[in-house]
Amino acid sequence: MTDVALQPWSDDDLDLLRRANTPELMDQMGGVEADEQVIARHERYLRLWREGAGFQFRIMIPGHPEGVGIVGYWHRDEDGEPVLESGWSVESEYRGQGIAPAAVIAMLEVARAHGDTLPVHAYPRVDNAASNAVCRKAGFTLLGEKDFEVTPGNVLHTNDWVYELAPATA
Ligand SMILES: CC(C)(COP(=O)(O)OP(=O)(O)OC[C@H]1O[C@@H](n2cnc3c(N)ncnc32)[C@H](O)[C@@H]1OP(=O)(O)O)[C@@H](O)C(=O)NCCC(=O)NCCS
Repeated sequence: MTDVALQPWSDDDLDLLRRANTPELMDQMGGVEADEQVIARHERYLRLWREGAGFQFRIMIPGHPEGVGIVGYWHRDEDGEPVLESGWSVESEYRGQGIAPAAVIAMLEVARAHGDTLPVHAYPRVDNAASNAVCRKAGFTLLGEKDFEVTPGNVLHTNDWVYELAPATA
């Protein structure tokens, strides 16, 4: 397993978020953001941690304490049901080394240790082979396809994957 460490989102992570704001990467998440939107997102990540509503992490690998990617999960309503949603990205020069699956598995362990029991969903676009592969490698189950409104009016055609944190009851 690739050696990764996760660090809770902190004041120092604005640059990490700016490095992730590339067309190639943000196309998967609703489009590139203006710098004010990136700063607002950074503030939101800090606030969600304080409120216990969302948990973003810096992904670190040996020799790169500044971070090479982002992984996180947050609470949302799925057709009236409370669920957890997760998301991730790895900077382009570090891809293809298994960093994202290792980070997602580490994040699921953190969520479980934190006492979270709701199902964790992920919604990669159906054409995002790399991210669908991450879901599979991290142990998610494919539920089917789903049109997903990432920002108002911006609908992506995605797969709905789920990972059950709570053991199944007999
Ligand atoms: C999806 C993403 C996080 C995967 O991260 P990663 O650390 O490269 O993950 P892996 O190393 O397991 O590679 C995943 C797949 O990427 C592909 N891949 C392999 N090498 C690659 C490379 N050098 N560059 C790009 N993709 C590569 C392969 O299909 C691989 O799957 P496989 O191992 O089954 O062949 C990363 O590609 C990314 O940040 N993409 C843009 C943002 C995004 O799509 N986020 C998810 C939104 S739902």
